[in-house]
Amino acid sequence: MKKVSIVTGGAKGIGAAIGYRLGKQGYAVVIADIDENAGKYRENHFRSEGIDSFFIKTDVSSEMDVSNMVERVYDRYGRIDALVNNAGIGFSGKSIEEQTLHEWRRVIETNLTGVWLCSKYVVKYMKNTGGVFVNVASTRAFQSEPNTEPYSASKGGIIALTHSLAVSLSKYNIRVVSISPGWIDTSSWQVPPRESYLSSLDHGQHLTKRVGKPEDVASLVAFLVSDDASWISGVNFTIDGGMTVKMIYIDENVIQDSLTMLFNDVEFSYQIRKLIEKIRKADNKENIKSKLDEFLKLL
Ligand SMILES: NC(=O)c1ccc[n+]([C@@H]2O[C@H](COP(=O)([O-])OP(=O)(O)OC[C@H]3O[C@@H](n4cnc5c(N)ncnc54)[C@H](O)[C@@H]3O)[C@@H](O)[C@H]2O)c1
Repeated sequence: MKKVSIVTGGAKGIGAAIGYRLGKQGYAVVIADIDENAGKYRENHFRSEGIDSFFIKTDVSSEMDVSNMVERVYDRYGRIDALVNNAGIGFSGKSIEEQTLHEWRRVIETNLTGVWLCSKYVVKYMKNTGGVFVNVASTRAFQSEPNTEPYSASKGGIIALTHSLAVSLSKYNIRVVSISPGWIDTSSWQVPPRESYLSSLDHGQHLTKRVGKPEDVASLVAFLVSDDASWISGVNFTIDGGMTVKMIYIDENVIQDSLTMLFNDVEFSYQIRKLIEKIRKADNKENIKSKLDEFLKLL
């Protein structure tokens, strides 16, 4: 019998690539997304590729939406085998003093409460058959840029919710895992698809020498929901091209490497670095200006 998956936020980005991959592996794919236009587009896309797909407009932060969505999935298919809690929104740019309680709640309710709600309502229909939840966290659960508190906290919460659910639901043969993607370029899975504007510097700073693709994440999810992963539960998998294991001390070599990645030209980058050194050591403004003129002539 055909297995059934629910992918929240499955209309665009990483969720769409996950749905596509599961669909190609024979799952029916329910796209539970708040964006009606993109959801319909993705349903049509999947169907045109021979995937049994069904879009249900859902706000994962709404208990009524989630309970209705899960009921409709069960009514239609009579089973639920995999729940991919992927829907999420970002947050950046405002200091903690400027962040509002409304903004904090919106991010937490979408990214964290949404995972809890979908899990709560799916258990009822998965407890007799067993199944898998894959919760999409982020490397932001472990490291941050400034002014991202709601997002980082929501993703850290997903890691803890994952091991808690895994322990509680093991009696029903439900495995619960989380994944933490790093930088994923979702442009080709947007609606409509967008151009990618990544630089060689963006790619080059990863150990794998490239920014991630939604398909990279989809491969991991496909493995985690499969029987090949039947001994895995409660843990988190980082998928980030090695970014989070890289320790960075800013020194001359790091500057040289960054310039080389940026210009893709070792000799030119070396000259620029030497110029930067000279400018740093210049003892008055006139001197700096003449060095800058020299720099501009090089470009
Ligand atoms: N792209 C990255 O670099 C990256 C890195 C780490 C983690 N993530 C996580 O991966 C997940 C997917 O991110 P993405 O980059 O593909 O984003 P995206 O914006 O491309 O896609 C997110 C999808 O979720 C849907 N959505 C938003 N709010 C919703 C709600 N309340 N209810 C239902 N659906 C909702 C959107 O309509 C959209 O289709 C998110 O949880 C994000 O935090 C992304």
